[in-house]
Amino acid sequence: MEKKPLTSPYSGVLGWIDARLPIPRMLDQEYLQFRVPKNLTYFWSFGGILMLTLMTLIISGLALGMHYKPSADEAFDSVQRIMRDVNYGWLIRYMHMNAAHFFFIAVYIHIFRGIYFGSYKQPRELLWIFGVIIFFLMMATAFLGYTLPWGQMSYWGATVITNLFSAIPFVGDSIVVWLLGGYNVGDATVNRFYVLHWFTAFAIVGVVLLHVTALHITGSNNPSGIEPKDDSETLTFNPFMTIKDLHGAVVFFTIFAFALFFVPDYLGHADNYIPANPLVTPAHIVPEWYFLPFYAILRAIPDKLMGVVAMVASIGLLAFLPWLDTSRIRSCVFRPVWKWLTLLFVFNFFVLMYVGAMPAEGTYVTIARVATVYWFLYLVVLAPLVGLVEVPNRLPADIHEYERMKQSGEIRFLPFRLPGLPWPTEAEKAQEKAPTRSVPAE
Ligand code: HEM
Repeated sequence: MEKKPLTSPYSGVLGWIDARLPIPRMLDQEYLQFRVPKNLTYFWSFGGILMLTLMTLIISGLALGMHYKPSADEAFDSVQRIMRDVNYGWLIRYMHMNAAHFFFIAVYIHIFRGIYFGSYKQPRELLWIFGVIIFFLMMATAFLGYTLPWGQMSYWGATVITNLFSAIPFVGDSIVVWLLGGYNVGDATVNRFYVLHWFTAFAIVGVVLLHVTALHITGSNNPSGIEPKDDSETLTFNPFMTIKDLHGAVVFFTIFAFALFFVPDYLGHADNYIPANPLVTPAHIVPEWYFLPFYAILRAIPDKLMGVVAMVASIGLLAFLPWLDTSRIRSCVFRPVWKWLTLLFVFNFFVLMYVGAMPAEGTYVTIARVATVYWFLYLVVLAPLVGLVEVPNRLPADIHEYERMKQSGEIRFLPFRLPGLPWPTEAEKAQEKAPTRSVPAE
């Protein structure tokens, strides 16, 4: 067999490595030279922010794992020891805890960005499906991790959620015993949840690699939803997006640092500072805020099995959105009806989050039911129907025209004003259209 010559565009040690294992070349092409549409907004920085948050979680998790004891007798105390005795243990633990919250904040923005600008549509279906898988894995990881400090909410949260499996006909009860390693949440449970927490965390890293590889095949979508036709409509990732993403990340992590140093327990539940006690059930067992919308869907349905099915389906259906949404147009900017329905979907998400935190009684149940109906209506009925009947606004010919339309105020990315975002007044628009007056020379 003929030997391939060892070549590389680089010299020195980098060239030596690259000729044998062309990872530097690949990184250069895929990350520095990679072309992205020129009109990406800060919404497109959240993918990078998610990656940085994931790294923060893994690194702080590694450090925590060196001191944590996964047993029913020691788990709670080992976490308290980390907080009080281990050098900078408080920082590592609060960093891990708050990074988990901020991971979900970023992923919700990332998902709703994808929905609003139609990033799930052809040819990015697989990229989107990988996203939905990541989201499921994130939920599993967060649930398993929340059990580990072995506080009251850890214990009772794990009890409620694992009990949901008992709704499965015939084999449900056996599955629960198998999952828990006993008849109730106990020593075997915390030990295996610890192993699984590590496993799902690294599974996320694996699926993120697939997610980003798929993205680099199709390229990024953009707020106009129109694919760039040539290089004049795109920019190289470096330096344009690296600097923009870095800016977005600095703002995001500044807010993160504020939470971490000033209000580290704000997003958590006080009951989790009480050691797990199988004999005392907390008055309200509430999951973490990021699970609340789905918890509300679960409780909105009076039948246990159907509640579980609805909860899983509410997320699982997202994977089919590329086919459920029948419109040819990607971006909500050009979809006068779907835009409002999508914004209502986002609002509805917060309504579900609110009622998920409230006791399942009276008006809260009614609101949860209406909001659950809208969740499914949006995905299963409105997405196919509106796509067929809606008359979209005039599409620009290319991204250059989109930018011109945006600057002149002809199109607006949101149909209402957000505080802090530019919103040209009629006078400003008129001024922009008026010919500029030349300044007479001295
Ligand atoms: C650990 C979690 C995740 C990481 C690290 C991640 C990473 C990224 C990165 C780096 C990008 C490119 C930059 C950007 O467009 O923001 C991206 C794009 C994208 N992601 Fe994610 N992602 C995650 C979760 C998700 C989830 C849960 C979904 C959806 C359910 C999703 C859907 C998408 C889509 C559709 C795009 C293409 C967007 C476009 O081109 O307009 N991602 N992701």
